[in-house]
Amino acid sequence: MFGFGQLIAILKKNPKKIVFTEGEDERILEASSRLLASSFLHPILVGNEERIAEAAEEAGFNIRGAEIIDPDKYDKIDEMVECLCEIRKSKGLTPERAREVLKKGNYFGTMLVKMGIADALLGGATYSTADTVRPALQIIKTKPENTIVSSCFILVRPRATGDNEVLAMADCAININPTEDELVEIAGEAAQCAKIFGIEPQMAFLSYSTYGSGAGESVDKMSNAAKKAKAKYPDIPIDGELQFDAAVAPKVAHTKCPGSEVGGHANTFIFPDINAGNIGYKIAQRMGHFDAYGPILLGLNAPVNDLSRGCNAAEVYSMAIITAALA
Ligand SMILES: CC(C)(COP(=O)(O)OP(=O)(O)OC[C@H]1O[C@@H](n2cnc3c(N)ncnc32)[C@H](O)[C@@H]1OP(=O)(O)O)[C@@H](O)C(=O)NCCC(=O)NCCS
Repeated sequence: MFGFGQLIAILKKNPKKIVFTEGEDERILEASSRLLASSFLHPILVGNEERIAEAAEEAGFNIRGAEIIDPDKYDKIDEMVECLCEIRKSKGLTPERAREVLKKGNYFGTMLVKMGIADALLGGATYSTADTVRPALQIIKTKPENTIVSSCFILVRPRATGDNEVLAMADCAININPTEDELVEIAGEAAQCAKIFGIEPQMAFLSYSTYGSGAGESVDKMSNAAKKAKAKYPDIPIDGELQFDAAVAPKVAHTKCPGSEVGGHANTFIFPDINAGNIGYKIAQRMGHFDAYGPILLGLNAPVNDLSRGCNAAEVYSMAIITAALA
């Protein structure tokens, strides 16, 4: 069952460098000071060296040993501009515009990953999700075998028995209204992500309808996507379309979807769209008292993750470990 110890063990065997795009943010500095106290994950802070040092001192965090890179003084900026122009040449990016764009921590940090100077990136303490994710989509890009980048949240809550209940939910953060085929791809990526966190996926394609109790385009989308996913991933127990109660409550499953191999005990949930997914994971987090880790971006060529702007230092620390362990 998932615990951070397993991810830290992965990193101890193979330490990584993670770039924080908002190096001057107090929460980033606090998380970095904790990372620097151990040796499995090395932080790179993007920002102005004096301001970072001042902010760390004022807040009382020891960031000695952190690598600080200021986009305005970066000695490899010409190489970076050239590399970015090459990547975006089909979009007609000029060196002048590239130089302008690279003054921003989100683009600069993403280029550090692209150029192999960092292994992973964590941003979004002040940037919106779109502003963190867009540079990754444009520069790091989707893996050759994927058609989209998607995302997954891992939800963790202690059980009375002492172990953790761990669930996966996708896609709650990136694709606004995925098609049937995109849902199938999201399911495959979410299943792989769930396994990394110790979940043996039992996957439900969620809807307001169970086995045709409702009708219409949105029901057909989930029912067809579930069928396609079952055919594509025969080793994963998958069912749908299912209502949430049929997916998780054995008694309801007995009535609404008798014989379902997933109904009543699903642990990996595929939502029909971003509204349902984003609302769903937040209900689990705020009212179900699950800790929510994510969005973990899936399908990119290198690990980049997005923080919530309301995050605290402990969440930055956890997401840094998750992000780097995926590298
Ligand atoms: C992900 C997101 C930011 C992309 O939107 P966008 O910036 O308007 O995207 P664009 O259509 O301009 O595309 C930018 C690039 O990303 C690519 N792209 C967009 N969505 C993509 C996806 N899901 N997977 C892979 N690539 C994608 C585009 O092909 C384009 O590439 P190109 O510039 O090389 O041609 C957008 O879908 C979004 O805002 N999603 C919701 C985010 C959010 O607010 N979540 C809730 C909070 S957790």
